[in-house]
Amino acid sequence: MRAGKFAASAAALIAGTLSAYAEPSETLAPCLACHGATGQSEVENVPSLGAQMASYSVIQLFMFREKLRVAEPMNEPAKGLSDDELQSMADALAALPAPKPPAAGDPARLERARALTERNRCRASPTSARTTC
Ligand code: HEC
Repeated sequence: MRAGKFAASAAALIAGTLSAYAEPSETLAPCLACHGATGQSEVENVPSLGAQMASYSVIQLFMFREKLRVAEPMNEPAKGLSDDELQSMADALAALPAPKPPAAGDPARLERARALTERNRCRASPTSARTTC
């Protein structure tokens, strides 16, 4: 897909966010089996999605659906979902509580993480497990 067409589709998707909402609870259940019903993932290598900005999630879901972002565990569940379903899922994820920051752990590992975030000019959030770049 051309970048312009993608931007137009993404804009249309975002513009559609204020319209119809599908009931998310049922459709979201299989998602939360991986991502955690409390917003905090208990599964290794599966991101926590609680309190994630809906605008971010909906774009990721759109990209998974269109295979513009390739990740096997996500392309499959996103397949065939309507724009409205993507939006209501993103809204429901945003309404979940934010994941807790990890408990202080292995100092060597924390130091490696600190060096990595510095190298990539990211800042760790003082209030959540999220990092902004
Ligand atoms: C089998 C486990 C599994 C299921 C089921 C699943 N996901 Fe995911 N999800 C993942 C993994 C793993 C990733 C990270 C993909 C990667 O490595 O890029 C991910 C990534 C995401 C992201 C992007 C997160 C980010 O930080 O960029 C969103 C949003 C998301 N999933 C929402 C959902 C929704 C909504 C559903 C249900 C339709 C769902 N997931 C179902 C495993 C799963």
